[in-house]
Amino acid sequence: MGHVSAIRVGIAGGARGAGFLTGLKSLAGRAELAAVYDPQPAALAAFVDQHPDAAACTTYEQLLDSCDVVVLASPQQFHVPQAELALARGIHVLSEVPAAVSLDQAKSLVGAVRTSSARYALAENYCYTRPNLIIQEMVKQGCFGDIYYGEGEYLHEMKSFHTMPDGSPTWRYFWQVGRDGHTYPTHSLGPLLQWTGDRVTAVSCHGTGRHTDPEHALQDTTVTMMRTAAGRLFVIRFDLLSNRPHLMDYYAIQGTKGAYEASRAEGNEPLVYLEGRSPEAQWEPLEKYADEFLPERYRNPPKGAGHWGADAWPITNLITAVENGDPVDLDVYTALDFSLPALAAEASIARGGAWIDVPDPRFFTNGIGVDPGREAPLT
Ligand SMILES: NC(=O)c1ccc[n+]([C@@H]2O[C@H](COP(=O)([O-])OP(=O)(O)OC[C@H]3O[C@@H](n4cnc5c(N)ncnc54)[C@H](O)[C@@H]3O)[C@@H](O)[C@H]2O)c1
Repeated sequence: MGHVSAIRVGIAGGARGAGFLTGLKSLAGRAELAAVYDPQPAALAAFVDQHPDAAACTTYEQLLDSCDVVVLASPQQFHVPQAELALARGIHVLSEVPAAVSLDQAKSLVGAVRTSSARYALAENYCYTRPNLIIQEMVKQGCFGDIYYGEGEYLHEMKSFHTMPDGSPTWRYFWQVGRDGHTYPTHSLGPLLQWTGDRVTAVSCHGTGRHTDPEHALQDTTVTMMRTAAGRLFVIRFDLLSNRPHLMDYYAIQGTKGAYEASRAEGNEPLVYLEGRSPEAQWEPLEKYADEFLPERYRNPPKGAGHWGADAWPITNLITAVENGDPVDLDVYTALDFSLPALAAEASIARGGAWIDVPDPRFFTNGIGVDPGREAPLT
């Protein structure tokens, strides 16, 4: 154990949970790994073997007894119930994605955050990849003009993750491929919403049918059209099953003054076109603009941080917000803005692509007596 005043971090879920440790180590003296909980004894033992500083907890309650901040890297259906238990005890929460798996969970989560003294943040790491951070700043400075169109794609062939070696189903079997529509929305949609500060108001979801692994409810490829509060159109493609190499971080935007095209295959460069700045009708490498637009603090992610360095930032940002008493980067409303469109997509695809409204979580009061729409007491 390190410095006495360091913020104690607990991890729920030893697999993905380990992905936060490079970021955490870079905060030495400010925050430290205190404990880990995983209900699977082998997973718990493996984690503690690798990271002997962590106390091994055999219950979630025990984990909460040992930490000031809890990282929820458990399967997605547990994020809300575990967040609520922590928030009720004034323990800050960094939740893996998605934030919630049902509307009831989403409403309940808002209630829990509003009544807690602790902070809640979503660990949406794709908002912090190098290209996405450059684009965020370029959008902020108006380089693309008014953005009216966006695309995001998450294509990740995960067939081997749906069952255990003995054939029994993993959590992904139900929560990711056992539902149709779009069950993992935040990586593809989150950055688009973060760049534009917008919110999805309605979705229409369509699928290709089931060809590759037809036992699953999820169709091979789904495409969800999304309307936003500011009138933008986003198109999100999602695929966990098709036979192909991964493409987990494709985005495109079109604005009145320019366009962005992320790399569509490994080894290709992300490209931008900026009217009046790029050579006439020619794409330029995004990297050309990195020096000018990549915020200083994100320039050097700690070596070894996963997802192209992005995994370091959600934990760094939450710890910094807790230390300074600042609002978090991706708060509960943002977390649900990233997550709720998926629930509407499931309802849409079940009704042949009918447009389904997406609620605004800022109006979820969960019966705690706060006027709908009133700014929530998040601090
Ligand atoms: N942001 C990202 O890039 C990213 C990447 C991978 C996974 N994830 C998310 O992280 C979460 C975990 O995914 P994974 O890939 O580690 O899954 P996994 O199936 O590989 O591992 C899940 C682990 O959680 C443990 N677990 C089960 N129930 C638990 C509970 N109630 N509390 C704590 N731990 C529990 C399991 O025993 C297992 O060790 C999911 O929500 C997933 O969506 C995010």
